[in-house]
Amino acid sequence: MPRYHIDTDMGVDDGLALYNANRVLGRSLTNVSTVWGNVTVETATRNALVFRALMPDARFDVVAGADRALDGHRAGAGHVHGEDGLGGAAKTLGKRLLKRIAATEVKPLDALPVGQGRVTIIGIGPATNIPYLVARYGKKNVTRIVLMSGAFFDPGNITPHAEFNAYSDPLALRRVLALGVPVTFVPLDLCRKIVLTRATVRSYLKTNRSRVVRLLVESHMAYMDHYIAWEGLDGCFPHDAIAVLAAWRPERFYRVPGRVTVETTGARRGKTTLVPDPRSSVEVAMGGDLKWVRQFLAAP
Ligand code: RIB
Ligand code: CA
Repeated sequence: MPRYHIDTDMGVDDGLALYNANRVLGRSLTNVSTVWGNVTVETATRNALVFRALMPDARFDVVAGADRALDGHRAGAGHVHGEDGLGGAAKTLGKRLLKRIAATEVKPLDALPVGQGRVTIIGIGPATNIPYLVARYGKKNVTRIVLMSGAFFDPGNITPHAEFNAYSDPLALRRVLALGVPVTFVPLDLCRKIVLTRATVRSYLKTNRSRVVRLLVESHMAYMDHYIAWEGLDGCFPHDAIAVLAAWRPERFYRVPGRVTVETTGARRGKTTLVPDPRSSVEVAMGGDLKWVRQFLAAP
């Protein structure tokens, strides 16, 4: 059975990604590791436990990873995702649930249950944990690393040059690229082609009023207010959920093989560049059956 591991900084779009990953991957989603990024690694871990608790069929283990980048950088995005990483919706969670989660012992990354067989790693936060995860699983057991990361022909979203995950830990991203493991990038260039509108997210409640879907809807409301200011759209780009779909159904995406480089310092920190090369085991998803992606994300 193919296995999947999600490494996440558990902001608002990560929650949608984890919900959809559980929906389509089921028991093959065996591990979730948390990483600093949108919020602190402690908050990211709490959020991963919240989503697991609200999805009764979820069977993944949760381990806690790095609290800062390899170069010590640790600036978050709480102003976007909420300091709770849930768009402020943590206040709607029941006290008993939060108390149960606070009492849950979460093991560190080096206690990761690696199990047997091959695994696809889906990275939807800064890449800080990824090199270590590959070492723990064993490079020969890692089928592919799928990363929501980078901006190749589009401007960035944290600086004009860089996307947030690549900017947050470019050294780790460079190490991932040096591993020789196949990598698929799901960059901003692709994510910006998929707009999840506020009306679509609200419509989830017409067909699914489960607690986890209500949390998804609530967490997206304030988060989407930022997009009105940034992008002039009343919605959001479901970055991380697209990365999950690209890992689950890669054939649905148009991927360009090539050599990817990343800058690690200065004004262009996190800038990713692609030089097309059919021989490369690294590829950048630039398009595909986007109607399928939009329809999939429109129905919870
Ligand atoms: O640039 C978007 C990425 O940065 C997403 O993964 C979002 O959750 C943030 O981590
Ligand atoms: Ca993320």
